[in-house]
Amino acid sequence: MATIFIFIFIFFSLLASISLPSYGFDSLDPLGNITITWDFLSDNGNTVDVRVSMYNFQLFRHVEEPGWNLGWAWKGDEVIWAMLGAEAKEQGNCTKFRGQQKPHCCEKEPVIIDLMPGTPYNMQTANCCKGGVLTSIKQDDTKRGATFQMNYIKASVSDSGGSFSMPENFTLGIPGYSCGTPFQVSPTKFTKDGHRWQQVLETWNVTCIYSQFLASPAPTCCVSLSAFYNSTIVPCPTCSCNCQGLPGATCVDSDKTSVLQLPQTNRGEPSPPVIRCSHHMCPIRIHWHVKQSYKEHWRVKITITNMNFVKNYSQWNLVVLHPNLGSVTQVFSFNYQTLSVYGNFSDIGMFWGLPYYNDMLLTHGENGHVQTEVLLHKDRREFTFREGWSFPRKISFNGDECVMPSPDAYPRLPSTAHISTTTLHTIFFSLLLLPILF
Ligand SMILES: *[C@@H]1O[C@H](CO)[C@@H](O)[C@H](O)[C@H]1NC(C)=O
Ligand SMILES: *[C@@H]1O[C@H](CO)[C@@H](O)[C@H](O)[C@H]1NC(C)=O
Ligand SMILES: *[C@@H]1O[C@H](CO)[C@@H](O)[C@H](O)[C@H]1NC(C)=O
Ligand SMILES: *[C@@H]1O[C@H](CO)[C@@H](O)[C@H](O)[C@H]1NC(C)=O
Ligand SMILES: *[C@@H]1O[C@H](CO)[C@@H](O)[C@H](O)[C@H]1NC(C)=O
Ligand SMILES: *[C@@H]1O[C@H](CO)[C@@H](O)[C@H](O)[C@H]1NC(C)=O
Ligand SMILES: *[C@@H]1O[C@H](CO)[C@@H](O)[C@H](O)[C@H]1NC(C)=O
Repeated sequence: MATIFIFIFIFFSLLASISLPSYGFDSLDPLGNITITWDFLSDNGNTVDVRVSMYNFQLFRHVEEPGWNLGWAWKGDEVIWAMLGAEAKEQGNCTKFRGQQKPHCCEKEPVIIDLMPGTPYNMQTANCCKGGVLTSIKQDDTKRGATFQMNYIKASVSDSGGSFSMPENFTLGIPGYSCGTPFQVSPTKFTKDGHRWQQVLETWNVTCIYSQFLASPAPTCCVSLSAFYNSTIVPCPTCSCNCQGLPGATCVDSDKTSVLQLPQTNRGEPSPPVIRCSHHMCPIRIHWHVKQSYKEHWRVKITITNMNFVKNYSQWNLVVLHPNLGSVTQVFSFNYQTLSVYGNFSDIGMFWGLPYYNDMLLTHGENGHVQTEVLLHKDRREFTFREGWSFPRKISFNGDECVMPSPDAYPRLPSTAHISTTTLHTIFFSLLLLPILF
C-alpha cells in the first residue's frame, strides 16, 4: 500500500506545483502584502504636507534588518524641504537653492530610510524610528507599521489641474517585493477626542507584493527527516540550494572558521552569506524527527540549524503544513498559532521564538540552532505512521519555502518494505482511473 500512496502523493505534488504559480503568490498567505499609504495633509500654496505610512499585511513574513528603503519617482521637479521620522539617503544636487537653508532632498528619485530607535524626540513622528524593521501580523501586531511626514515643494509645472500630483514607481528596497501603481482611496479619517472625526485631503495606496522567485531564484532552506521506527536519516536533497563546486557557490569548511574574515558592510546593506560547506548548500536546515508514539498522542522534534556564519536571524518564523496541526496539544519552547488561511482548515501552523530566549537564531559559529518538541493528539480517523503521513507536506522558513526530500525516500515502517501483488493491482487500476478523475 505504501507505494500507491507515495505515488498519489507525488502526483498531487506535481499537480500542485503546476497549478500554483511560484512567483507573486504565496498559497500559505494569499492576501499578504505591504501597503504604502500616502496622505495629503495640507496644501500650503507652493508646498504640500504629506504623511507616508507603511503597513505589513502579511501573516508571517516580516521585514528584518537592514530594513526597508522606500523609493519613488517624482513626476516633476518636486523637492523635499523637510522630513520627520525618516530621512532621505542622499541629499542630491541642491545647488539651485542658494540660501542658508538647504532642502532635505533634491533627488528626482529619492530613497527614504528609517531612523533608528532612540532618535531625538524632535525628529520623530508617531509610529516611527524602528530601524526599518516591520513585524508580521501574527508575530507582533503592534510593530508592523512605520510612518514619516514631510513637507515638499510642488513641481514648478503641474498638469494635474488643481488636485495633487502623486509620484509613481514605488520600491521598498527589500529583495523580492514589487509595488503596483498608486490608486486613490477614500481619505484617511482621524480623531483627536474620539468623538469628532476629521479627514485628510486625499489618500492614495500602493500595494507591494512579495515573490520568493524575485527575492532569490534558488531556495534558501531545506528539510531533513527521521523517525523513531527507522534508523535512516533522510538528508536534505543534494544541491537543494546550490551545488558545491559550481561557480558562485562559495562555502567554508567548519574546521577553517578560525581564519574566517567576515565581510564588512555599511548600514542598510545586507551582508552576503558565508555558509558552511554541505551537500545541500543551504543557509538554513530544518530537521523533522518523529520522536515517539503514545496511546493518544505522538511527539515531533523540530530543529532549525543556521549554517550561515554571518547572519543572526532575528524574529525568525517557521510555517508548517501538516494535517494534524489542528490537534496540537503542547509546544515546548516556541510560540505556536494555527493560521486559518482557507476558511476553517487548521492544518497550517506557525512557530516562532520566545522573546529573549530563542527569538534570535544565532550564526553558525555561535550555537546556531533552536529546537522544539510538539505533542499532537492522534486523530483516529486519519492518524498513521504509514506512507509518510507523519511528515510535513510543506515547510517555509521566514516565508520562503524549503526544499523537501522526495516522498519515496521517506523513512518507512519496517513492515511495508515489500510490494504485494494487490498493491500492483491497485496501482494498475488507479492508473486506469486517472483520466476519468481529471
Ligand atoms: C492587502 O492586504 C489587505 C489586508 O490583508 C487586504 O485587504 C488586501 O486585499 C490586500 N491587497 C491585495 C492587492 O492583495
Ligand atoms: C489603504 O491602506 C490602508 C492601510 O494604510 C488600509 O487600511 C486600507 O484598507 C487600504 N485601502 C484600500 C482600498 O486598499
Ligand atoms: C516610471 O517607470 C516607467 C517605466 O520604467 C517610466 O517610463 C516612467 O518614466 C517612470 N516615471 C517617472 C516619473 O520617472
Ligand atoms: C546641479 O544642478 C545644477 C542645476 O540646478 C547644474 O547646473 C549642475 O551641473 C548640477 N551639478 C551636478 C554635479 O550634477
Ligand atoms: C549575532 O548576535 C550575537 C549576540 O547578540 C552578537 O554577538 C554577534 O555579533 C551577532 N553576529 C552578527 C553577524 O550579527
Ligand atoms: C469551524 O469548525 C468548527 C469545528 O471543527 C465548527 O464548530 C465551526 O462552526 C466551524 N466554523 C466555521 C465558520 O465553519
Ligand atoms: C527505513 O526507511 C528506508 C527509506 O524509506 C528504507 O529503505 C528502509 O528499508 C527502512 N528500514 C527498515 C528497517 O524498514
